[in-house]
This record gives sequence, C-alpha cells and structure tokens, in this order.
Amino acid sequence: MTEHWTPASWRGKPAKHIPSDYPDMAELSRVETTLRKMPPLVFAGEARRLKSLLGDVAAGKAFLLQGGDCAESFKEFAADNIRDTFRLILQMAVVLTFAGGKPVVKVGRMAGQFGKPRSSPVEKIGDVELPSYRGDNINGMEFTPEARIPDPQRLMQAYGQSAATLNLLRAFAGGGYADLHNIHRWTLGFVADSPQGARYREVADKISETLQFMEAIGVTPESQPTLHQVEFFTSHEGLLLGYEEAMTRVDSTSGEWYDTSAHLLWIGERTRQLDGAHVEYFRGIRNPIGIKCGPTMEGDDVLRLIETLNPKDEAGRITLYGRFGYDKIADRLPGLLRATKASGRNVVWAIDPMHGNTLTAANGYKTRPFDRILSEVKTFIEVCKAEGVHPGGVHLEMTGQNVTECLGGARSVSEGDLADRYHTHCDPRLNGEQALELAFLVAEKLKDERVDLSQRVAAGI
Ligand code: TRP
Ligand code: MN
Repeated sequence: MTEHWTPASWRGKPAKHIPSDYPDMAELSRVETTLRKMPPLVFAGEARRLKSLLGDVAAGKAFLLQGGDCAESFKEFAADNIRDTFRLILQMAVVLTFAGGKPVVKVGRMAGQFGKPRSSPVEKIGDVELPSYRGDNINGMEFTPEARIPDPQRLMQAYGQSAATLNLLRAFAGGGYADLHNIHRWTLGFVADSPQGARYREVADKISETLQFMEAIGVTPESQPTLHQVEFFTSHEGLLLGYEEAMTRVDSTSGEWYDTSAHLLWIGERTRQLDGAHVEYFRGIRNPIGIKCGPTMEGDDVLRLIETLNPKDEAGRITLYGRFGYDKIADRLPGLLRATKASGRNVVWAIDPMHGNTLTAANGYKTRPFDRILSEVKTFIEVCKAEGVHPGGVHLEMTGQNVTECLGGARSVSEGDLADRYHTHCDPRLNGEQALELAFLVAEKLKDERVDLSQRVAAGI
C-alpha cells in the first residue's frame, strides 16, 4: 500500500540538492509560512489544459517546444529579456508549426527557474574555496564568502520576480503581441541580417500572404481569436521542495493538489531517486510533470518512475526528456523507447540536447558545441522514427539575447569569442540565431516524417 501523501511528506525522505545550511533555519520556516499565503501564480485549470495538450503530443498530434534560461537571475531581470526570449519562442513555433503541420505547445523555462543542482558543493578559484553558487533563490553568484551564504529572503524575491515575469508573459500571449499579423516584427535585430533571418522571412512571407487571403474571405483575428493569441505555459525544475510545498494548494474545483508555482515542473537527473524526496513530492501533485533521463538510466528505472508517478496512466502527465550527449544517445535511447513502448504507457518523449553536451573550453569557459547539440536532436528524431515512437519535442536552454556562450552556429562563435558576451548564470545558452537554426533543422526532420507518413498512407502500408 502506498503511504499517505501530503505536501510535506517529502520531508521524511532523503533529499538531495536542497540546502540545509541556512544560518537561521527558523527564518526559512517564517519565509515559507509567508509564501503559503501568497496568491498562486497559476491556476489548476491551466495546468490541466497543458496536461491535455501534452496528451495530444503523446498521441503524436502535436509538438512540444520548451525553452528559456538555464537559470533566471535577479541581475538579468528586465522586460526586454523576457520579451526577447518570448518572441524567439514564437518564431521557432512558427517555423515548427509550418513545417510539421501540427500544433506546437509553447512552454517557457521561465518565471521560476532559479535553483540549480550543482555537481560539487564547493567552488575553488586559486587557493580559495567557497560554497558553490546554487541559484539566485538560494545564494549569490559573486565569489565572496558573504554572497555564498544561503538567504531565505531570496525566496520572496524569486516569487516576486516570477509573478512579474508571468504577468508580462500573459500580457504578451493574450494582448496582441503574439498576433500572427506581427509575424515579421518578432525577428531580433541581430538575427535579421543572418541566413536564419532570411530563411525566417521566407516562411513569414508565405504566412502573411495566407493571412491576407483569409482576411479577404472573412477569417480575421476578431472572428478567430486563435490568430490573435497564443497559449503560453511556464515551467521550471521542481528542485527546492520547501518553496514548492509552500506553493502547493488544493484546487477548489477538483479537490486535488496542484503546485501553483508553474504549469509544469520537472524532476532533474540528479534528484530522480525512486525513494527520494523529489519523487515523493511529485507523486502527489496533479500538474503535468517531466523527468530528465540521462545516460545511466535503464528501461526498468523509467518504468518504475512511471508506475510511481502516473499509476493511472493519465495522458499528458509525464514527459521524458532524454539528455544523453551526442555520442551516447544512439546507444542509450533505443532501450528506453522500447521499454516505454512495450509497457503501453502514455508518455511524451522529448529531447534536451543541452545537458549532455557541456564541456570546458581551454580558456576555462563552460560551453557547448552547437554541432553536437544539433547532432543529438537529429539522432533523437531518427531513433524515434526507427522505433516507431513520436519525437514529441525539444527542451532548450536559450535566450533572445545576442550572447556568445555556445560554440559554432552560422556566425561560428569560437573559443576566443566566448568572453565577448558570456552572461549566463549557469549553463551556456543558445543565442537567437542558433536557436532559430535549430528550429529549422527540427522542422526539416519533421517534414520528412510527414512526407514519409503520407507516402506510406498513399501506398497503403
Ligand atoms: N494560436 C495559434 C497557435 O498558437 C496560432 C498563432 C498565433 C501562433 N500567434 C502565433 C503560432 C505565434 C505560432 C506563433 O498555434
Ligand atoms: Mn542547465
């Protein structure tokens, strides 16, 4: 029999990557009590809506596009940054919808993505060793002893920033910015004169022409609100369970528990232990959830997690994100796909081509070669196809800013260029051009899939 679940039952389980070294643990409790009284950031009905859209993805009828910063930060918090990531997601969604002929479910890795699990608890520079930076909701990035002390008040600031970010995203999504008639306005300045910019203009021209035709026959944003707005959802890693617990509320319409800090939350590769605190917390909330699947995961591991986290096999409840590395995916993914397929369980399979492809450049910068990222995505789609599984989506660390954090791409960022605009608070992100290039690659692959399918249908196979 499964034990009784409460929003706090995770506290009785081994918890990884949750700091317990706050100088004043009573202050942490006081902050959590305050958070419990704060308004929810999302409404349970919205989380259910996302779950149903992800159910469509699981059934092969839609595609998931999820992206945003590795880690949001207090310092980079600005309306322009939020807008630029949002418009880049819109552009990528246009490209993917146009090529794939299927709706694209748009999810930001935004409005709450602060905490970072770190591979080492300490950071050493020269002879000085300090506790690692763990995300702006815990401590500060500056390399000083003071900054690295965990401060509970940071949770309040993270909540406030998430609320403000979400408010702006809702305004952009519903208020006219995302209207398809603005399709040419989403291109970022620095992307406009690149090959990707030109390629995007071609697609956008075709869509604009179609919109004019439709307007002539009476299909307008007034008659068809879908032209005027997008559904946009938020997500982050559910790492800091004290915060998530404080944001967990009973939904008055269904009587069920939801984590109201975001629509979707995922369990990281480092915290997915079956008997651990994170799995315990996640099993009780009704949101759609994700699980990161790295190269050490076996078919049995994933099936046990699915059984624990989705015993009723609800469609759209679980998204699995492969994150193996470009050189390991062909070896590791097929077994997992076969396991979930043979089990008949409802899951979305998506790819996170970022986290398995991180390396340190000779000059000390943490980076990711763009060609390896592309290669992992390509292999993902090919392996899915070979195994008869829908390649359901991509999960990216990206920004609308013109950063130089990942190597390569059309403008071939080199190791020497990394220092120019390296702004990330944790892992290296794709810049606007690189993200758009990746969208075109996925679009081509999805188009192939569509052509293959229609040929098979025509041939009666
Ligand atoms: N609402 C539709 C959708 O989300 C069409 C749409 C409106 C759209 N604005 C968009 C699609 C911007 C992509 C990008 O699919
Ligand atoms: Mn990351």
